[in-house]
Amino acid sequence: MTKPVNGFSRLSKNEKVEWLAEHYLKNDEKAVSVLKQYWNEDEKLQKLHDEFIENTVSNFYLPLGLAPNFLINGKYFTLPMAIEESSVVAAASKAAKFWSERGGFTAKVINNKKIGQVHFIFKGNYSKLQAFFNKIEPRLHEAVEHITRNMVKRGGGILDMQIVDKTAELENYYQLFVKFDTRDSMGANFINSCLEKFAEVLQEEAKKQEGFTPDEKDLQIIMSILSNYVPECTVRAEVSCPIEQLSEDNNITGKEFAQKFIQAVRIAEIEPYRAVTHNKGVMNGIDAVVLATGNDFRAVEAGVHAYASRNGKYTSLTHASIEDGIFRFWMEIPLALGTVGGLTSLHPLVKLALDILQRPTGTELMEIVAVAGLAQNFAALRSLITTGIQQGHMKMHLMNILNQHQATEEEKAEMVEFFTHHTITHSSVIEQLEKLRS
Ligand code: MEV
Repeated sequence: MTKPVNGFSRLSKNEKVEWLAEHYLKNDEKAVSVLKQYWNEDEKLQKLHDEFIENTVSNFYLPLGLAPNFLINGKYFTLPMAIEESSVVAAASKAAKFWSERGGFTAKVINNKKIGQVHFIFKGNYSKLQAFFNKIEPRLHEAVEHITRNMVKRGGGILDMQIVDKTAELENYYQLFVKFDTRDSMGANFINSCLEKFAEVLQEEAKKQEGFTPDEKDLQIIMSILSNYVPECTVRAEVSCPIEQLSEDNNITGKEFAQKFIQAVRIAEIEPYRAVTHNKGVMNGIDAVVLATGNDFRAVEAGVHAYASRNGKYTSLTHASIEDGIFRFWMEIPLALGTVGGLTSLHPLVKLALDILQRPTGTELMEIVAVAGLAQNFAALRSLITTGIQQGHMKMHLMNILNQHQATEEEKAEMVEFFTHHTITHSSVIEQLEKLRS
């Protein structure tokens, strides 16, 4: 491929596949048939997926798994999880079962404010800008009234707006900093539409403002966009039980388990290399439910990791303590999620995932997702401080290795039986499979 392609998006799906095969896949019919194998037979359904993005050539499957027995605020949930990593759903289910026998999870939304900013350049006097803003603030609200009307009816809308002076860090740089309540929607489109309108009005009104110098009248909008950093849209999830209830076998007492667990959390609190992996485990649970419910996991990831470093050092999202013989494990994280709008009413599996969760409100979904993250972290730490992570992980990964080597159902059954008593490593599986086949 030596030259760029023009008008690619205007080609039909078949033409795009042909172009791809010709230029990048050596016209390999097998490669083309793999792409087509994933097309849905139901043309209407396929068209829906084609139109989610541009230049769709196929569908990319992820398994949708179920993690049952999540007792959250006294109610049982089965969590839909979309994820490719072998051990995540098994770990979540195990943690859910464990805590369902110890009172379950509690979760509570602390606050629910979303943020948007109009970033602009104003070459002039800050107090004049502030006076100008005070004067035009009603005009700004009025200008978005047609956008906010329905949201206000649902109890949401614009909560607050102010001018922020950032000139100490960047010459002539100011923000219109706006807080929103977007109710059950994630609200990205709503926020961005409001911000773009605000930007228009700011610029127009500055031009007309009496007493502004020509430079001040020339207020320049740089950009208008929501922030995925939402430290005022947070939820807390927690579990607790008497320490003696933590032990499930004779190898470790509840007290030993709790102490080791707390050390593991402390290490993640003070050591960024460990904190990143520790939090990655939290996100295994969070992303899987976020994805299954049609929410934007990149936004969630970006916001959560920024929150994990809000005090200037990247640290653990979860915390643990023992007080008066009670083990407590909790997490407070920002989560901007929606159960209306976006993919939630479009993608049939997303609709189903929300049905499985009994049609939660936006805040209920925040609670469920936070619990998924806490449970996942509990399961990971529990393995790490007892058996090690590889035992469970490789058990789940065994099937992947067997599938890679086209094992038959009989071979799989024999191998699973064999590895109930032997340590699973990639090479030990291959070795045993070869023995079986020879
Ligand atoms: C693997 O996906 C996640 C873990 O590494 C998390 C952790 O180390 O806490 C097991």
